Amino acid sequence: MHPSGHYDVLIIGSGAAGLSLALRLAPLARIALISKAALSEGATLYAQGGISVVLDKEDSLQSHVEDTLGTGAGLCDPAVVEYTVKHARRCIQWLIDQGVAFTRADGPDTGADYHLTREGGHSHRRVLHAADATGRAVETTLEQQARKHPNITIFEDHLAIDLIREKTTGRCLGAYVLDMRNNVGVSVTAARCTVLATGGAGKVYLYTTNPDVASGDGIAMAWRAGCRVANMEFIQFHPTCLYHPKAKSFLISEAVRGEGGRLLLPDGSRFMERFDPRGELAPRDIVARAIDHEMKRLGVECVHLDISHRPAEFIRSHFPTIYERCMDFGIDITREPIPVVPAAHYLCGGVITDLRGRTDIEGLYAIGEMTFTGLHGANRMASNSLLECLVFAEAAAEDIMQRLDQFAPPGPLPAWDESQVTDSDEEVVVAHNWDELRRFMWDYVGIVRTDKRLQRALHRAELLKQEIDEYYGNFRVTRDLLELRNLVLVAELIIRSALLRKESRGLHYTLDYPAADQADPPHNTVLVPKLRGSSPAQTG
Ligand code: FAD
Ligand code: SIN
Repeated sequence: MHPSGHYDVLIIGSGAAGLSLALRLAPLARIALISKAALSEGATLYAQGGISVVLDKEDSLQSHVEDTLGTGAGLCDPAVVEYTVKHARRCIQWLIDQGVAFTRADGPDTGADYHLTREGGHSHRRVLHAADATGRAVETTLEQQARKHPNITIFEDHLAIDLIREKTTGRCLGAYVLDMRNNVGVSVTAARCTVLATGGAGKVYLYTTNPDVASGDGIAMAWRAGCRVANMEFIQFHPTCLYHPKAKSFLISEAVRGEGGRLLLPDGSRFMERFDPRGELAPRDIVARAIDHEMKRLGVECVHLDISHRPAEFIRSHFPTIYERCMDFGIDITREPIPVVPAAHYLCGGVITDLRGRTDIEGLYAIGEMTFTGLHGANRMASNSLLECLVFAEAAAEDIMQRLDQFAPPGPLPAWDESQVTDSDEEVVVAHNWDELRRFMWDYVGIVRTDKRLQRALHRAELLKQEIDEYYGNFRVTRDLLELRNLVLVAELIIRSALLRKESRGLHYTLDYPAADQADPPHNTVLVPKLRGSSPAQTG
Protein backbone atom coordinates (compact mmCIF):
# COMPACT_ATOMS: atom_id res chain seq x y z
CA MET A 1 0.00 0.00 0.00
CA HIS A 2 1.09 3.56 -0.66
CA PRO A 3 1.22 6.10 2.17
CA SER A 4 -0.46 8.83 0.05
CA GLY A 5 -3.71 9.51 1.73
CA HIS A 6 -5.26 11.00 4.79
CA TYR A 7 -4.86 9.73 8.32
CA ASP A 8 -5.77 11.04 11.73
CA VAL A 9 -2.23 10.66 12.99
CA LEU A 10 1.02 10.18 11.09
CA ILE A 11 3.71 8.61 13.31
CA ILE A 12 7.24 8.69 11.90
CA GLY A 13 9.35 6.05 13.64
CA SER A 14 8.56 2.61 15.07
CA GLY A 15 10.79 2.19 18.12
CA ALA A 16 9.56 2.05 21.71
CA ALA A 17 8.23 5.61 21.40
CA GLY A 18 6.43 5.35 18.04
CA LEU A 19 5.01 1.86 18.57
CA SER A 20 3.65 2.53 22.03
CA LEU A 21 2.05 5.77 20.87
CA ALA A 22 0.47 4.00 17.87
CA LEU A 23 -0.98 1.27 20.10
CA ARG A 24 -2.36 3.75 22.60
CA LEU A 25 -4.04 5.86 19.88
CA ALA A 26 -5.26 3.05 17.64
CA PRO A 27 -8.57 2.36 19.43
CA LEU A 28 -9.70 5.90 18.54
CA ALA A 29 -7.73 7.06 15.51
CA ARG A 30 -6.54 5.95 12.06
CA ILE A 31 -2.77 5.77 12.18
CA ALA A 32 -0.09 5.73 9.47
CA LEU A 33 3.10 4.31 11.03
CA ILE A 34 6.19 4.95 8.94
CA SER A 35 9.56 3.31 9.38
CA LYS A 36 12.54 3.85 7.12
CA ALA A 37 13.79 0.25 7.48
CA ALA A 38 12.13 -2.93 8.75
CA LEU A 39 9.58 -2.09 11.42
CA SER A 40 11.67 -3.44 14.31
CA GLU A 41 14.99 -1.87 13.28
CA GLY A 42 16.10 0.93 15.60
CA ALA A 43 17.92 1.53 18.87
CA THR A 44 15.08 -0.02 20.85
CA LEU A 45 15.73 -3.46 19.35
CA TYR A 46 19.32 -3.42 20.64
CA ALA A 47 18.68 -2.09 24.15
CA GLN A 48 20.27 -4.46 26.62
CA GLY A 49 20.32 -3.29 30.25
CA GLY A 50 16.66 -2.54 30.88
CA ILE A 51 14.13 0.03 32.04
CA SER A 52 14.38 1.86 35.33
CA VAL A 53 11.41 1.58 37.65
CA VAL A 54 10.99 1.55 41.42
CA LEU A 55 9.81 -1.95 42.42
CA ASP A 56 12.18 -2.88 45.24
CA LYS A 57 10.72 -2.44 48.74
CA GLU A 58 13.89 -0.67 49.89
CA ASP A 59 13.73 1.78 46.97
CA SER A 60 11.57 4.92 46.62
CA LEU A 61 10.35 7.31 43.93
CA GLN A 62 12.28 10.05 45.74
CA SER A 63 15.50 8.06 45.43
CA HIS A 64 14.94 7.52 41.67
CA VAL A 65 14.33 11.27 41.31
CA GLU A 66 17.46 12.14 43.30
CA ASP A 67 19.69 9.72 41.35
CA THR A 68 18.41 11.12 38.03
CA LEU A 69 19.00 14.71 39.17
CA GLY A 70 22.47 13.85 40.46
CA THR A 71 23.50 12.07 37.25
CA GLY A 72 22.13 15.00 35.20
CA ALA A 73 24.72 17.32 36.84
CA GLY A 74 22.34 20.12 37.75
CA LEU A 75 20.56 20.46 34.41
CA CYS A 76 17.52 18.17 34.75
CA ASP A 77 14.12 19.82 35.07
CA PRO A 78 12.94 18.51 38.47
CA ALA A 79 9.25 18.69 37.47
CA VAL A 80 9.90 16.52 34.40
CA VAL A 81 11.98 14.04 36.41
CA GLU A 82 9.21 13.72 39.01
CA TYR A 83 6.56 13.31 36.32
CA THR A 84 8.53 10.57 34.55
CA VAL A 85 9.41 8.64 37.69
CA LYS A 86 5.82 8.87 38.96
CA HIS A 87 4.41 7.37 35.74
CA ALA A 88 7.01 4.61 35.40
CA ARG A 89 5.12 1.80 37.15
CA ARG A 90 1.95 2.39 35.14
CA CYS A 91 3.88 2.32 31.86
CA ILE A 92 5.71 -0.86 32.85
CA GLN A 93 2.38 -2.48 33.72
CA TRP A 94 1.11 -1.44 30.28
CA LEU A 95 4.14 -3.17 28.69
CA ILE A 96 3.50 -6.31 30.76
CA ASP A 97 -0.16 -6.21 29.65
CA GLN A 98 1.04 -6.05 26.03
CA GLY A 99 2.94 -9.30 26.70
CA VAL A 100 6.54 -8.26 27.44
CA ALA A 101 8.13 -11.05 29.52
CA PHE A 102 10.59 -9.44 31.92
CA THR A 103 13.03 -11.69 33.77
CA ARG A 104 11.58 -12.89 37.03
CA ALA A 105 13.55 -13.14 40.24
CA ASP A 106 13.62 -16.94 40.38
CA GLY A 107 13.25 -18.23 36.85
CA PRO A 108 10.45 -17.79 34.35
CA ASP A 109 7.61 -19.76 35.99
CA THR A 110 7.82 -19.01 39.66
CA GLY A 111 5.49 -16.03 39.73
CA ALA A 112 8.02 -14.34 42.04
CA ASP A 113 8.91 -10.67 41.82
CA TYR A 114 10.89 -9.44 38.84
CA HIS A 115 14.67 -9.46 38.93
CA LEU A 116 16.15 -5.97 39.12
CA THR A 117 19.70 -5.29 38.05
CA ARG A 118 21.98 -2.34 38.79
CA GLU A 119 23.57 0.24 36.53
CA GLY A 120 25.67 3.37 36.98
CA GLY A 121 24.17 6.26 38.92
CA HIS A 122 21.38 4.17 40.50
CA SER A 123 21.63 3.84 44.27
CA HIS A 124 19.30 0.80 44.28
CA ARG A 125 18.60 -2.23 42.16
CA ARG A 126 16.06 -0.62 39.89
CA VAL A 127 16.54 -1.87 36.34
CA LEU A 128 13.82 -4.20 35.08
CA HIS A 129 15.06 -6.33 32.20
CA ALA A 130 14.53 -9.31 29.91
CA ALA A 131 17.93 -11.00 30.40
CA ASP A 132 20.34 -8.81 28.37
CA ALA A 133 17.95 -8.27 25.46
CA THR A 134 15.31 -6.02 27.00
CA GLY A 135 14.85 -3.91 23.89
CA ARG A 136 14.24 -6.96 21.72
CA ALA A 137 11.52 -8.16 24.10
CA VAL A 138 9.85 -4.74 24.09
CA GLU A 139 10.18 -4.05 20.35
CA THR A 140 9.06 -7.45 19.08
CA THR A 141 6.09 -7.61 21.45
CA LEU A 142 4.86 -4.15 20.47
CA GLU A 143 5.51 -4.93 16.80
CA GLN A 144 3.29 -8.02 17.00
CA GLN A 145 0.49 -5.99 18.58
CA ALA A 146 0.79 -3.19 16.03
CA ARG A 147 0.72 -5.59 13.07
CA LYS A 148 -2.56 -7.04 14.36
CA HIS A 149 -4.33 -3.72 14.82
CA PRO A 150 -6.78 -2.81 12.02
CA ASN A 151 -6.40 0.94 12.66
CA ILE A 152 -2.62 0.94 12.20
CA THR A 153 -1.37 1.00 8.61
CA ILE A 154 2.33 0.18 8.51
CA PHE A 155 4.76 1.48 5.88
CA GLU A 156 8.22 -0.10 6.13
CA ASP A 157 11.18 1.13 4.06
CA HIS A 158 9.52 4.53 3.83
CA LEU A 159 11.69 7.49 4.70
CA ALA A 160 10.16 10.81 5.76
CA ILE A 161 12.05 13.65 4.08
CA ASP A 162 10.46 16.85 5.33
CA LEU A 163 7.39 18.12 7.13
CA ILE A 164 4.65 20.01 5.31
CA ARG A 165 3.32 23.16 6.97
CA GLU A 166 0.32 25.27 6.11
CA LYS A 167 1.52 28.59 4.71
CA THR A 168 -0.69 30.93 6.71
CA THR A 169 -1.07 29.24 10.09
CA GLY A 170 2.18 27.25 10.12
CA ARG A 171 0.31 24.12 11.25
CA CYS A 172 1.92 20.79 10.40
CA LEU A 173 -0.16 18.87 7.85
CA GLY A 174 2.00 15.80 7.20
CA ALA A 175 5.23 14.89 5.45
CA TYR A 176 6.91 14.06 2.17
CA VAL A 177 7.87 10.39 2.21
CA LEU A 178 10.29 8.46 -0.03
CA ASP A 179 8.95 4.98 -0.79
CA MET A 180 12.04 2.76 -1.03
CA ARG A 181 10.08 -0.48 -0.89
CA ASN A 182 8.17 -0.05 -4.16
CA ASN A 183 10.61 2.39 -5.68
CA VAL A 184 7.90 4.81 -6.67
CA GLY A 185 9.48 8.07 -5.55
CA VAL A 186 8.17 10.64 -3.11
CA SER A 187 4.55 10.96 -2.01
CA VAL A 188 2.59 13.17 0.35
CA THR A 189 1.23 11.71 3.57
CA ALA A 190 -1.36 14.03 5.07
CA ALA A 191 -2.64 13.80 8.63
CA ARG A 192 -4.54 15.90 11.13
CA CYS A 193 -1.59 15.58 13.45
CA THR A 194 2.01 14.37 13.00
CA VAL A 195 4.39 12.80 15.52
CA LEU A 196 8.15 12.49 15.13
CA ALA A 197 9.66 9.47 16.92
CA THR A 198 12.78 8.96 14.85
CA GLY A 199 15.33 8.17 17.59
CA GLY A 200 18.88 9.44 18.00
CA ALA A 201 21.82 10.47 15.85
CA GLY A 202 24.72 8.17 16.80
CA LYS A 203 25.70 7.79 13.14
CA VAL A 204 27.14 11.28 13.27
CA TYR A 205 30.17 9.63 14.95
CA LEU A 206 32.59 7.14 13.46
CA TYR A 207 32.24 4.75 16.41
CA THR A 208 28.78 4.25 17.84
CA THR A 209 26.60 1.66 19.52
CA ASN A 210 23.68 2.87 17.41
CA PRO A 211 22.12 1.07 14.43
CA ASP A 212 22.30 2.57 10.93
CA VAL A 213 18.88 4.24 11.15
CA ALA A 214 20.13 6.65 13.84
CA SER A 215 20.85 9.60 11.57
CA GLY A 216 18.99 12.37 13.40
CA ASP A 217 16.32 12.71 10.69
CA GLY A 218 13.52 13.89 12.97
CA ILE A 219 15.69 16.55 14.60
CA ALA A 220 16.79 17.84 11.19
CA MET A 221 13.23 17.83 9.84
CA ALA A 222 11.88 19.65 12.90
CA TRP A 223 14.70 22.24 12.78
CA ARG A 224 14.12 22.92 9.09
CA ALA A 225 10.41 23.35 9.83
CA GLY A 226 11.13 25.87 12.61
CA CYS A 227 11.41 23.99 15.94
CA ARG A 228 13.95 24.95 18.57
CA VAL A 229 16.44 22.39 19.84
CA ALA A 230 18.25 22.27 23.18
CA ASN A 231 21.36 20.76 24.80
CA MET A 232 22.66 19.15 21.62
CA GLU A 233 26.21 19.21 23.03
CA PHE A 234 25.42 16.46 25.52
CA ILE A 235 26.40 13.31 23.63
CA GLN A 236 26.64 10.26 25.83
CA PHE A 237 29.56 7.96 25.10
CA HIS A 238 28.92 4.47 26.42
CA PRO A 239 32.08 3.27 28.19
CA THR A 240 32.01 -0.33 27.00
CA CYS A 241 31.55 -1.21 23.35
CA LEU A 242 33.19 -4.50 22.25
CA TYR A 243 36.62 -3.84 20.71
CA HIS A 244 37.15 -6.29 17.87
CA PRO A 245 37.90 -5.56 14.20
CA LYS A 246 34.86 -7.56 13.04
CA ALA A 247 32.35 -6.46 15.69
CA LYS A 248 30.30 -3.56 14.37
CA SER A 249 28.94 -1.50 17.27
CA PHE A 250 28.22 -4.28 19.76
CA LEU A 251 27.48 -3.02 23.25
CA ILE A 252 28.59 -4.70 26.46
CA SER A 253 25.82 -3.71 28.83
CA GLU A 254 26.44 -1.60 31.89
CA ALA A 255 24.54 -4.34 33.74
CA VAL A 256 27.76 -6.41 33.44
CA ARG A 257 29.40 -3.84 35.71
CA GLY A 258 26.17 -3.75 37.75
CA GLU A 259 26.63 -7.47 38.46
CA GLY A 260 30.27 -7.08 39.49
CA GLY A 261 32.23 -6.59 36.23
CA ARG A 262 35.62 -4.87 36.76
CA LEU A 263 37.41 -2.54 34.39
CA LEU A 264 41.09 -3.47 33.98
CA LEU A 265 44.19 -1.97 32.39
CA PRO A 266 46.41 -4.19 30.20
CA ASP A 267 48.48 -5.12 33.30
CA GLY A 268 45.33 -6.46 34.98
CA SER A 269 45.02 -3.62 37.53
CA ARG A 270 41.74 -1.83 38.30
CA PHE A 271 41.64 1.94 37.80
CA MET A 272 38.12 3.30 38.33
CA GLU A 273 38.60 3.97 42.08
CA ARG A 274 41.23 6.56 41.11
CA PHE A 275 38.51 8.50 39.30
CA ASP A 276 35.39 8.07 41.44
CA PRO A 277 34.59 6.39 44.77
CA ARG A 278 31.69 4.57 43.06
CA GLY A 279 34.25 2.80 40.87
CA GLU A 280 32.79 0.92 37.90
CA LEU A 281 29.29 2.10 38.84
CA ALA A 282 30.01 5.83 38.60
CA PRO A 283 27.78 7.61 36.04
CA ARG A 284 28.72 6.97 32.42
CA ASP A 285 30.33 10.33 31.67
CA ILE A 286 32.88 9.69 34.43
CA VAL A 287 33.61 6.09 33.39
CA ALA A 288 33.93 6.93 29.67
CA ARG A 289 36.26 9.84 30.42
CA ALA A 290 38.37 7.70 32.75
CA ILE A 291 38.76 5.02 30.05
CA ASP A 292 39.59 7.65 27.42
CA HIS A 293 42.17 9.15 29.78
CA GLU A 294 43.84 5.80 30.53
CA MET A 295 43.87 4.76 26.86
CA LYS A 296 45.55 8.03 25.88
CA ARG A 297 47.96 7.95 28.86
CA LEU A 298 49.14 4.41 28.12
CA GLY A 299 48.76 4.58 24.32
CA VAL A 300 46.59 1.43 24.31
CA GLU A 301 43.73 0.62 21.94
CA CYS A 302 41.29 -0.66 24.55
CA VAL A 303 40.81 -1.55 28.21
CA HIS A 304 39.21 -4.76 29.53
CA LEU A 305 36.00 -5.62 31.32
CA ASP A 306 36.16 -8.76 33.45
CA ILE A 307 33.16 -10.64 34.86
CA SER A 308 34.85 -14.06 34.82
CA HIS A 309 35.05 -14.20 38.65
CA ARG A 310 31.25 -14.74 38.74
CA PRO A 311 29.98 -18.32 38.27
CA ALA A 312 29.83 -19.36 34.61
CA GLU A 313 26.16 -20.36 34.89
CA PHE A 314 25.24 -16.96 36.34
CA ILE A 315 27.01 -15.21 33.45
CA ARG A 316 25.40 -17.38 30.78
CA SER A 317 21.89 -16.96 32.18
CA HIS A 318 22.09 -13.21 32.86
CA PHE A 319 23.99 -12.24 29.73
CA PRO A 320 23.12 -14.83 27.08
CA THR A 321 23.31 -12.38 24.15
CA ILE A 322 26.64 -10.92 25.21
CA TYR A 323 28.03 -14.38 25.96
CA GLU A 324 27.04 -15.72 22.52
CA ARG A 325 28.20 -12.68 20.61
CA CYS A 326 31.60 -12.63 22.31
CA MET A 327 31.94 -16.38 21.69
CA ASP A 328 31.39 -15.63 17.96
CA PHE A 329 34.61 -13.63 18.17
CA GLY A 330 36.45 -16.29 20.19
CA ILE A 331 36.09 -14.52 23.56
CA ASP A 332 34.75 -16.71 26.38
CA ILE A 333 33.54 -14.16 28.93
CA THR A 334 33.19 -16.83 31.64
CA ARG A 335 36.97 -17.29 31.51
CA GLU A 336 38.58 -14.13 30.17
CA PRO A 337 38.14 -10.33 30.11
CA ILE A 338 36.39 -8.53 27.24
CA PRO A 339 38.29 -5.85 25.26
CA VAL A 340 36.19 -2.65 25.34
CA VAL A 341 36.28 0.99 24.16
CA PRO A 342 33.86 3.92 24.53
CA ALA A 343 31.52 4.76 21.62
CA ALA A 344 28.84 7.37 20.93
CA HIS A 345 25.62 6.03 22.42
CA TYR A 346 22.88 8.52 23.21
CA LEU A 347 21.83 12.09 22.47
CA CYS A 348 20.58 13.85 25.62
CA GLY A 349 19.38 16.96 23.78
CA GLY A 350 16.99 17.34 20.86
CA VAL A 351 13.73 18.96 19.80
CA ILE A 352 12.18 20.91 22.65
CA THR A 353 8.84 19.53 23.84
CA ASP A 354 6.58 20.10 26.79
CA LEU A 355 5.23 17.45 29.13
CA ARG A 356 2.65 16.42 26.51
CA GLY A 357 5.13 15.97 23.70
CA ARG A 358 4.02 19.17 21.93
CA THR A 359 6.70 20.98 19.89
CA ASP A 360 6.89 24.62 18.80
CA ILE A 361 4.72 23.82 15.76
CA GLU A 362 0.97 23.41 15.96
CA GLY A 363 -0.07 19.86 15.07
CA LEU A 364 3.48 18.48 15.49
CA TYR A 365 4.53 16.30 18.42
CA ALA A 366 7.88 14.64 19.16
CA ILE A 367 8.70 11.79 21.53
CA GLY A 368 11.60 9.46 22.37
CA GLU A 369 15.34 9.90 22.02
CA MET A 370 15.07 12.75 19.49
CA THR A 371 13.55 15.08 22.08
CA PHE A 372 14.68 17.42 24.78
CA THR A 373 12.09 17.07 27.54
CA GLY A 374 14.30 18.18 30.43
CA LEU A 375 14.56 14.66 31.89
CA HIS A 376 18.22 13.88 31.29
CA GLY A 377 20.05 17.15 31.98
CA ALA A 378 23.76 17.04 31.20
CA ASN A 379 23.94 13.23 31.41
CA ARG A 380 21.25 10.56 31.08
CA MET A 381 21.12 7.97 33.82
CA ALA A 382 21.22 4.41 32.49
CA SER A 383 17.86 2.87 31.57
CA ASN A 384 15.96 6.15 31.85
CA SER A 385 15.65 6.38 28.07
CA LEU A 386 13.23 3.57 27.34
CA LEU A 387 11.27 4.87 30.31
CA GLU A 388 11.10 8.34 28.75
CA CYS A 389 9.85 6.82 25.47
CA LEU A 390 7.00 5.04 27.27
CA VAL A 391 5.99 7.87 29.60
CA PHE A 392 5.98 10.54 26.90
CA ALA A 393 4.16 8.29 24.43
CA GLU A 394 1.42 7.92 27.01
CA ALA A 395 1.33 11.67 27.68
CA ALA A 396 1.26 12.54 23.96
CA ALA A 397 -1.48 9.97 23.31
CA GLU A 398 -3.70 11.53 25.98
CA ASP A 399 -3.13 15.02 24.59
CA ILE A 400 -3.70 13.99 20.97
CA MET A 401 -6.91 12.17 21.82
CA GLN A 402 -8.25 15.27 23.55
CA ARG A 403 -7.33 17.59 20.70
CA LEU A 404 -7.80 15.53 17.55
CA ASP A 405 -11.23 17.00 16.79
CA GLN A 406 -9.70 20.48 16.81
CA PHE A 407 -7.33 19.58 13.95
CA ALA A 408 -9.27 19.76 10.68
CA PRO A 409 -8.26 17.19 8.03
CA PRO A 410 -5.78 18.85 5.62
CA GLY A 411 -6.95 19.88 2.16
CA PRO A 412 -4.96 19.05 -1.01
CA LEU A 413 -1.19 19.46 -0.48
CA PRO A 414 1.49 20.35 -3.05
CA ALA A 415 3.16 17.33 -4.69
CA TRP A 416 6.93 16.76 -4.43
CA ASP A 417 8.61 18.60 -7.29
CA GLU A 418 11.26 16.61 -9.19
CA SER A 419 11.14 18.65 -12.38
CA GLN A 420 14.56 20.25 -11.82
CA VAL A 421 16.62 17.18 -10.82
CA THR A 422 18.32 14.23 -12.51
CA ASP A 423 19.81 10.93 -11.30
CA SER A 424 23.17 11.41 -9.64
CA ASP A 425 26.29 10.52 -11.62
CA GLU A 426 28.58 11.12 -8.62
CA GLU A 427 27.56 8.86 -5.73
CA VAL A 428 31.17 8.97 -4.58
CA VAL A 429 30.56 12.49 -3.25
CA VAL A 430 27.91 11.19 -0.85
CA ALA A 431 30.04 8.25 0.31
CA HIS A 432 33.11 10.44 0.83
CA ASN A 433 31.21 13.08 2.78
CA TRP A 434 29.62 10.47 5.08
CA ASP A 435 33.09 9.22 6.04
CA GLU A 436 34.61 12.66 6.40
CA LEU A 437 31.79 13.91 8.62
CA ARG A 438 31.85 10.94 10.98
CA ARG A 439 35.62 11.03 11.33
CA PHE A 440 35.99 14.72 12.15
CA MET A 441 33.10 14.50 14.60
CA TRP A 442 34.91 11.64 16.35
CA ASP A 443 38.28 13.41 16.34
CA TYR A 444 37.17 16.97 17.12
CA VAL A 445 33.81 16.72 18.93
CA GLY A 446 34.41 13.62 21.08
CA ILE A 447 34.70 12.86 24.79
CA VAL A 448 37.25 15.64 25.46
CA ARG A 449 36.85 18.90 23.54
CA THR A 450 38.60 22.23 22.99
CA ASP A 451 37.33 25.41 21.34
CA LYS A 452 40.01 25.13 18.67
CA ARG A 453 38.93 21.63 17.64
CA LEU A 454 35.27 22.64 17.75
CA GLN A 455 35.99 25.62 15.47
CA ARG A 456 37.79 23.33 13.03
CA ALA A 457 34.82 20.97 13.07
CA LEU A 458 32.36 23.82 12.52
CA HIS A 459 34.32 25.05 9.54
CA ARG A 460 34.28 21.59 7.97
CA ALA A 461 30.60 21.04 8.72
CA GLU A 462 29.71 24.32 7.01
CA LEU A 463 31.69 23.39 3.89
CA LEU A 464 30.10 19.95 3.75
CA LYS A 465 26.66 21.42 4.24
CA GLN A 466 27.10 23.74 1.26
CA GLU A 467 28.29 20.88 -0.90
CA ILE A 468 25.43 18.61 0.15
CA ASP A 469 22.79 21.32 -0.30
CA GLU A 470 24.05 21.87 -3.83
CA TYR A 471 23.95 18.15 -4.52
CA TYR A 472 20.44 17.92 -3.00
CA GLY A 473 19.24 20.69 -5.32
CA ASN A 474 20.50 18.95 -8.45
CA PHE A 475 19.93 15.23 -7.98
CA ARG A 476 17.06 12.86 -7.28
CA VAL A 477 16.96 11.92 -3.58
CA THR A 478 18.28 8.63 -2.20
CA ARG A 479 18.39 7.31 1.36
CA ASP A 480 22.15 7.94 1.64
CA LEU A 481 21.82 11.52 0.45
CA LEU A 482 18.86 12.31 2.70
CA GLU A 483 20.55 10.84 5.76
CA LEU A 484 23.77 12.67 5.03
CA ARG A 485 21.86 15.95 4.66
CA ASN A 486 20.32 15.35 8.08
CA LEU A 487 23.56 14.18 9.71
CA VAL A 488 25.51 17.24 8.65
CA LEU A 489 22.80 19.51 10.00
CA VAL A 490 22.68 17.65 13.31
CA ALA A 491 26.50 17.74 13.48
CA GLU A 492 26.40 21.52 13.05
CA LEU A 493 23.81 21.84 15.84
CA ILE A 494 25.99 19.71 18.15
CA ILE A 495 29.11 21.77 17.42
CA ARG A 496 27.37 25.12 17.75
CA SER A 497 25.86 24.06 21.06
CA ALA A 498 29.23 22.80 22.31
CA LEU A 499 30.85 26.12 21.41
CA LEU A 500 28.22 28.01 23.38
CA ARG A 501 28.86 26.06 26.59
CA LYS A 502 31.83 27.73 28.26
CA GLU A 503 32.16 25.22 31.08
CA SER A 504 32.54 21.48 31.66
CA ARG A 505 29.40 19.78 32.90
CA GLY A 506 28.18 16.21 32.65
CA LEU A 507 28.90 14.85 29.18
CA HIS A 508 30.41 18.09 27.88
CA TYR A 509 34.06 18.23 28.91
CA THR A 510 36.35 20.90 27.48
CA LEU A 511 40.01 21.51 28.31
CA ASP A 512 39.43 25.26 27.83
CA TYR A 513 36.88 25.45 30.66
CA PRO A 514 37.53 22.40 32.85
CA ALA A 515 35.30 23.53 35.76
CA ALA A 516 31.55 23.82 35.97
CA ASP A 517 30.11 27.31 35.73
CA GLN A 518 28.80 28.51 39.08
CA ALA A 519 25.70 30.14 37.49
CA ASP A 520 22.61 29.25 39.48
CA PRO A 521 20.57 27.72 38.01
CA PRO A 522 22.80 26.42 35.22
CA HIS A 523 21.52 27.14 31.71
CA ASN A 524 20.30 24.94 28.88
CA THR A 525 21.73 25.62 25.42
CA VAL A 526 18.79 26.57 23.22
CA LEU A 527 19.23 27.06 19.46
CA VAL A 528 16.54 28.87 17.50
CA PRO A 529 16.20 28.32 13.74
CA LYS A 530 16.48 31.48 11.63
CA LEU A 531 12.98 30.83 10.36
CA ARG A 532 11.62 31.61 13.84
CA GLY A 533 13.66 34.39 15.34
CA SER A 534 16.06 37.09 14.26
CA SER A 535 19.04 35.59 16.11
CA PRO A 536 20.38 32.22 14.91
CA ALA A 537 21.28 31.05 18.38
CA GLN A 538 20.49 31.96 21.91
CA THR A 539 21.05 30.41 25.29
CA GLY A 540 18.62 30.56 28.13
P1 FAD B 1 14.38 4.07 17.96
O1 FAD B 1 14.09 2.84 18.71
O2 FAD B 1 15.77 4.31 17.54
O3 FAD B 1 13.45 4.07 16.67
C1 FAD B 1 13.60 5.05 15.67
C2 FAD B 1 12.62 4.75 14.56
O4 FAD B 1 12.56 5.86 13.67
C3 FAD B 1 13.00 3.55 13.69
O5 FAD B 1 11.81 2.85 13.40
C4 FAD B 1 13.54 4.19 12.40
O6 FAD B 1 13.39 3.40 11.26
C5 FAD B 1 12.63 5.40 12.33
N1 FAD B 1 13.13 6.50 11.51
C6 FAD B 1 14.23 7.26 11.70
N2 FAD B 1 14.30 8.21 10.74
C7 FAD B 1 13.23 8.03 9.94
C8 FAD B 1 12.74 8.70 8.78
N3 FAD B 1 13.37 9.75 8.23
N4 FAD B 1 11.61 8.23 8.19
C9 FAD B 1 10.96 7.16 8.70
N5 FAD B 1 11.35 6.51 9.82
C10 FAD B 1 12.47 6.95 10.42
N6 FAD B 1 18.03 2.73 26.89
C11 FAD B 1 17.51 2.25 28.03
O7 FAD B 1 16.69 2.90 28.67
N7 FAD B 1 17.89 1.02 28.48
C12 FAD B 1 18.79 0.23 27.82
O8 FAD B 1 19.09 -0.88 28.25
C13 FAD B 1 19.37 0.74 26.63
N8 FAD B 1 20.29 0.03 25.95
C14 FAD B 1 20.73 0.49 24.74
C15 FAD B 1 21.59 -0.30 23.99
C16 FAD B 1 21.99 0.11 22.72
C17 FAD B 1 22.91 -0.75 21.92
C18 FAD B 1 21.53 1.34 22.21
C19 FAD B 1 21.93 1.81 20.85
C20 FAD B 1 20.69 2.14 22.98
C21 FAD B 1 20.29 1.72 24.24
N9 FAD B 1 19.43 2.51 25.01
C22 FAD B 1 18.93 2.00 26.18
C23 FAD B 1 18.85 3.73 24.48
C24 FAD B 1 17.44 3.41 23.95
O9 FAD B 1 17.46 2.13 23.37
C25 FAD B 1 16.97 4.41 22.92
O10 FAD B 1 17.15 5.71 23.40
C26 FAD B 1 15.49 4.19 22.63
O11 FAD B 1 15.27 2.86 22.25
C27 FAD B 1 15.06 5.12 21.52
O12 FAD B 1 13.75 4.76 21.13
P2 FAD B 1 13.02 5.62 20.03
O13 FAD B 1 11.66 5.02 19.87
O14 FAD B 1 13.11 7.05 20.35
O15 FAD B 1 13.91 5.39 18.70
C1 SIN C 1 23.37 -0.76 28.71
O1 SIN C 1 22.79 -1.85 28.78
O2 SIN C 1 24.51 -0.56 29.14
C2 SIN C 1 22.67 0.38 28.09
C3 SIN C 1 21.74 0.99 29.05
C4 SIN C 1 21.32 2.35 28.61
O3 SIN C 1 21.83 2.90 27.65
O4 SIN C 1 20.45 2.90 29.30
